[in-house]
Amino acid sequence: MYSSKITGLGYYVPDNVVTNDDLSELMDTNDEWIQERTGIKERHWIPDGSEDSSAIMGVKAAKIAIERAGLSKDDIDFIVFATLSPDYFFPGCGVQVQDMLDLPTVGAIDIRNQCSGFIYALSTADQFIKTGMYKNILVIGAEFHSNGLDKTTRGRGVSVIFGDGAGACILSREEDNSKGILSSHLHSEGKYADKLIVASPSIKNWVPEIINSNGKDISYFPYMDGTFVFKNAVVRFSEVIMEGLEANNLQVSDIDMFIPHQANLRISQFVQKKFGLNDDQVYNNIMKYGNTTAASIIIALTEAWENGNIKDNDLVVLAAFGSGFTWGSVIIRW
Ligand code: ACO
Repeated sequence: MYSSKITGLGYYVPDNVVTNDDLSELMDTNDEWIQERTGIKERHWIPDGSEDSSAIMGVKAAKIAIERAGLSKDDIDFIVFATLSPDYFFPGCGVQVQDMLDLPTVGAIDIRNQCSGFIYALSTADQFIKTGMYKNILVIGAEFHSNGLDKTTRGRGVSVIFGDGAGACILSREEDNSKGILSSHLHSEGKYADKLIVASPSIKNWVPEIINSNGKDISYFPYMDGTFVFKNAVVRFSEVIMEGLEANNLQVSDIDMFIPHQANLRISQFVQKKFGLNDDQVYNNIMKYGNTTAASIIIALTEAWENGNIKDNDLVVLAAFGSGFTWGSVIIRW
């Protein structure tokens, strides 16, 4: 069995910054409510007329990650693309990346696990590396939320939270088994699927049916039972972090850097307090980007690495919880 190691990181967000005050011109909300409940100050939204999409942002992040890994595009053996906001119903964004990067005809899969999408994507790539099937895998998380949000007061409980962006990493074969991804831990609980959902358009409720409802059917906007999600998130985050540590005979005191999915600053702070971690052991950037779902962990990981917050041999813990419900953790020896 091989080990797998992150050898290149990159992210891309659109230039267009949307502040909380900007949102208060679209809906009945305000900077104080948003910051107090979520910690978010601003987010990046793709502006009208931009070419950007989940796939295109993913490609922009991927180019940086490939270059930083010291690889050429022809070294990439496989693509794993996590998103809940793909450019098309089908095919997935992974094949678009294969085309836009002009890669050889390598395999490409999309992961549809929302906020824990990047954890699932990294875990999937890790298995292919560990078995020896592939040497270098491009793993992308990207979201184009802004075009699908209800930007009226009706949708304010959800739409103020989400931002657009993409992150990417290269996962490469590592001969030293003490380094790289030590383990990953994945979970789901589908009975709560309707607590955080975009139900339409779906094959069960296709576009003509939505149009025929004359505006009554708004199931194409995200629905979230925020309080219920919050309560489950703090429990599952804690459980899956402990599961990862115990699987590797590690303690909370061994954590050098915890990078949680950026769902809500209050969730991250709750988990930080529960584990007794210092501010310099937890990386949060939701203030600047909002919740970028499948992109949030990889954007945060890239920023933390760029800022020098992650050093060689550090124990890095990634964890996420979200729609499905799905949740998971990845334990990395950097
Ligand atoms: N501005 C002003 N007021 C608002 C806004 C807003 N943007 N949104 C809601 N309110 C109001 C509500 O209408 C409500 O008013 P009322 O008391 O008069 O009825 C009041 O504020 C409180 O609303 P709650 O929804 O109870 O607020 P809460 O404190 O629960 O915060 C939030 C909402 C931020 C969504 C929180 O529940 C949360 O973060 N939940 C978890 C989100 C999460 O982790 N999601 C998972 C990842 S997402 C994914 O997987 C796709």
